[in-house]
Amino acid sequence: MSQVPLHRPLHQHFAPDFVWGVATSSFQIEGAAFEDGKGESIWDRFCQQPGAIADASNGHVACDHYHRLDEDLDLIASLGVNAYRFSIAWPRVQPAGHGEFNPQGLDFYERLVDGLKRRGIQAWATLNHWDLPQGLQDRGGWNDRDTVHRFVDYARHVQARLGDRIDGLTTHNEPWVVATLGHEQGVFAPGIKNRKIATQVAHHLLLSHGLALQALRADGAQRSNKCQLGIVLNLSSWVPATAMPADIAAARLADAHGRRWYTDPLFKGSYPDDALADLGADAPVVQAGDMQAIAQPMDYLGVNYYTRAVMSASGEAWDAKARGLPVSDMDWEIYPQGLTDLLVGLKHDYADLPPVYITENGGAFKDDQLQAGRVQDDDRIAYLREHIAAVASAMQLGVPMAGYMVWSLLDNFEWASGYLKRFGIVHVDYDTQVRTPKASADWYRQFLRDWRG
Ligand code: NOJ
Repeated sequence: MSQVPLHRPLHQHFAPDFVWGVATSSFQIEGAAFEDGKGESIWDRFCQQPGAIADASNGHVACDHYHRLDEDLDLIASLGVNAYRFSIAWPRVQPAGHGEFNPQGLDFYERLVDGLKRRGIQAWATLNHWDLPQGLQDRGGWNDRDTVHRFVDYARHVQARLGDRIDGLTTHNEPWVVATLGHEQGVFAPGIKNRKIATQVAHHLLLSHGLALQALRADGAQRSNKCQLGIVLNLSSWVPATAMPADIAAARLADAHGRRWYTDPLFKGSYPDDALADLGADAPVVQAGDMQAIAQPMDYLGVNYYTRAVMSASGEAWDAKARGLPVSDMDWEIYPQGLTDLLVGLKHDYADLPPVYITENGGAFKDDQLQAGRVQDDDRIAYLREHIAAVASAMQLGVPMAGYMVWSLLDNFEWASGYLKRFGIVHVDYDTQVRTPKASADWYRQFLRDWRG
C-alpha cells in the first residue's frame, strides 16, 4: 500500500481535540525502588540476574523521577502536550500484590495526577507496565489464575482513589512482551523459557483485562467517572520477505501470533484458529466464560509501533541494517509506512474498531552526547515527523485515530538494554540527573504550537 500524499502542512491534518502526549513507565523512570513502603517487583529481582541487563544496571535510581516530580511535570507542560501517559507501579501501591495496600504509594500518583490537572494536561495511566509485585511471582505470577483476581482488586483500588481525575486508564501495556519475552524467550522478567506457560500467561493477561473492565465499569458508573478504559498492544506490520507462498504463509502465522492472538479475543471473542493449530498442546487452558469476559467493549485501543516485521519461511531474521535500510540504534528498521499499513489493517479486520491512540512511537538514536549544551537529534525529528505523517495517512484512509504519544519523555532504563539506549526527547545525565530538552523536544513543541494555531 502506498502512502497517501498529504497536501496540507502536517499539523493541519489533526482536529483540535486530537490528543498529543509523551509517555513513560514507572520502572523505567521512577527510581526510589524501596522507598516509602514500595515492595519488590519482578524487574527489581530480574536485574540481579548476572547477564540479564546489558550494562548490569537496575531501576534503583533510574531518572529519580519519584523525587523530581514537580520538575518533570513542568518539563512536560513546557512541551505544550495535552496528555501524559505514565504507569502506576503495582508494588508501590500494594507491596506484595495481595493483602495490604500502601497509602503512600497512591499519594505519589495522586500528586502526579493533580499536578497534571493543574497544568491542564490529561492523565493517561497504565496499571501494568510489567513491574509485577515479586510477592505474586512467588505464588506463580501471571501463570497462576489467582493473579487475574489480584489484578482486578488492584485496578479497583486505583480507580476508587484516582478514577475521578484520570482521563484514560489502560489495563496492560504490551501483553505480548510480558508473555513472549518474559515467559517464552526469558529475556525479560521473570526470565522463564516455556511456551506453554507463555500462552497461559497471555490468556490470563487478557482475562484480567476483561474482568477488570467489567469491575471498573460497574464501580465507575456509581461514581459517574468519565475515565476511558482500554489496553495497549505492541503491534507491527508483518510482511513476507518475498512473494513466495511459503514466506507469505510465514508472515500470516507471525501476524496470528503477534497481533490477532490479542486483537481477535478483544474484538471477536475467540483466539485465531491458525495460531491455536500451530500451538497444539501449548494452547492455553480456557475456562467457560473467559472469552466473553475478554471481549468487553473498549473505549479505545492503544497501539505501540516502532518497526515492521519481515518474515521468511526459513526463519532467517531480516537484517535491515545489513541490507542498508535505515535503522535506529536498536537496529530496528525505520519504516513509517508500516504504521499506516498496520492501522488500515486493523480497521479492515475489525469493523467496530474503537478510537485508536498511538500510545508509543519513537526511536533510540546514538545522539546522547551533549555538544555545546545541546543534542541535535535530527534522526529522531525525522522519525517522529514521518510517523505522524503515517498517522495522518491512516486517518485519510478512514482509521479512527484519536491521539499520538511520543516514546519517550526522558532517556530512561530500556529494560534488558539498561541505560545504553536512549529514547528520550529530553536528554538525561545520569550522574547529575540534569534534564536537557533535545532538538526533537523543540521540534515537537513547535509542531504543537502550529497545530494549536
Ligand atoms: C515499548 C515499551 O512499552 C517501553 O517500555 C519500551 O521502552 C519501548 N517499547 C522501547 O523499547
